[in-house]
Amino acid sequence: MQQKQVRLGVNLDHVTTLRQVRGTAYPDLIQAIQISEAAGADGITMHLREDRRHIQDADVYAAREVIKSSMNLEMAATNEMQKIAIEVQPDYCCIVPERREELTTEGGLDVMAHRPRLQDLTQALQEAGILVSLFIEPNPLVIDAVADIGVPIIELHTGRYAEVSGEQLQHELNRLEDAAAHAHQLGLVVNAGHGLHLGNVRSIAQINNMNELNIGHSLIADALFNGLAQSIKDMRAAILGEPL
Ligand code: PXP
Repeated sequence: MQQKQVRLGVNLDHVTTLRQVRGTAYPDLIQAIQISEAAGADGITMHLREDRRHIQDADVYAAREVIKSSMNLEMAATNEMQKIAIEVQPDYCCIVPERREELTTEGGLDVMAHRPRLQDLTQALQEAGILVSLFIEPNPLVIDAVADIGVPIIELHTGRYAEVSGEQLQHELNRLEDAAAHAHQLGLVVNAGHGLHLGNVRSIAQINNMNELNIGHSLIADALFNGLAQSIKDMRAAILGEPL
């Protein structure tokens, strides 16, 4: 049986990092969305962080107007973000843990500790017609808790996999494979992301039942030299195991 093609969600946060660092009007997020979709992105992802270090509120509203594929809004489980998401109506919301001082999202959600809040938030978003995913570590107990809450999608944190090498790399890959199999058995849709690049994406794309990979930093870094459209095409080729 032929495996379903893994979806590629293009995270455009760092287009706006470059804009915010100088307070200019460029590079233009809307243009980046249009280029990404024309180059074959299956979805556009953006993270409205509480400190607004890259994506701004106005970006999220403007993006919703132009995104033709699907919009995935990453956000912390706060009341403020809940209100914005319900107004904006992305297709998906990925709930992530957030600490102000971190460089990027470090670690997955502590689903057990925040279960009541996550349950309320998920219910409110789902009632508004938004599909919810939780960004979690590849841990079977956390996956059980997600299924229990009634969240349909998980995004497995691949940050640890991206950081290690040698034997540890195989160990992390095994953890991700086991987690994906466990989640699939429970009826959950399995996405993954964080720290993926041309050199490490293929093994993650080959995990059984992998639905979608969300990739940002390395795509934008490659875009500096090759252009955004080419970096997306190269990533698609790497996902499929085709030569670049
Ligand atoms: N998935 C989630 C939930 C994230 O928070 C991030 C980082 O914003 C990514 C995927 C993409 O990670 P990277 O920028 O390292 O590709």
